[in-house]
Amino acid sequence: MTEITPPQIATADALKSAPEEFQDLVRKIVVSHAVNELYGAQVFDEPAIQYAPTPYAKWLTCRVAMEEYGHHVRFKELGEQIGIPADDMTPEKHPPLSIFEFPLKTWEEFCVIKLLADLAEILQVEDLLQCTFQPLRNLARMTMPEERFHAQFGKDFCTELCQTPEGRAKVQAAIDHYFPYLPPFFGRKGSKNNALYRRWGIKQRSNEEMRADFIARARALVEDHLKLTLPTVPEAA
Ligand SMILES: [Fe+2]
Ligand SMILES: [Fe+2]
Repeated sequence: MTEITPPQIATADALKSAPEEFQDLVRKIVVSHAVNELYGAQVFDEPAIQYAPTPYAKWLTCRVAMEEYGHHVRFKELGEQIGIPADDMTPEKHPPLSIFEFPLKTWEEFCVIKLLADLAEILQVEDLLQCTFQPLRNLARMTMPEERFHAQFGKDFCTELCQTPEGRAKVQAAIDHYFPYLPPFFGRKGSKNNALYRRWGIKQRSNEEMRADFIARARALVEDHLKLTLPTVPEAA
């Protein structure tokens, strides 16, 4: 792949005059965020309101659900500004990632999802903070404090649950079930698509780098902070 100096594209409108490959990659990443934010809100955050054990926990969970739907709305708006038909940004058009196939059944599982899946989301959003398509950079800046709040929500409630032996056992069981879905979320090793994103400066880090960083940060939370065990997951192909 030949090296290029990626353009800096300042507005949704200016994308029209960017190279075709750049435009395609931007569209792909905007669609994926729009769809995944919606999936997450529908299968985890909104259903979790019924599992939240207290009015306070319900209130915070409502806020998380509202913000996740809000992320979908903002990515979808950007998608429309760059010419993606609204119908192309629906879950019906895109099969869900495996992380959304986890059937949420308990409050403990939801707290673990916020602790770990939102950490994975934070890594993705951090990567976009340097994106050469500036509207994506701006969206990343806007959504980052909310994603941090979601991960903190997960950390705080998991910490509280771990204060009793039953709670610890439930949080550990949820981690054992859910964590293995997450490392593959970062994509394949040596991915051509990822190399293209980096070539154009739309993404900064390789899938392998992001995955390794994620596992290290997840380990710090689960093992150093909660004093639980992070399951070993075979390295993705
Ligand atoms: Fe989100
Ligand atoms: Fe989130």
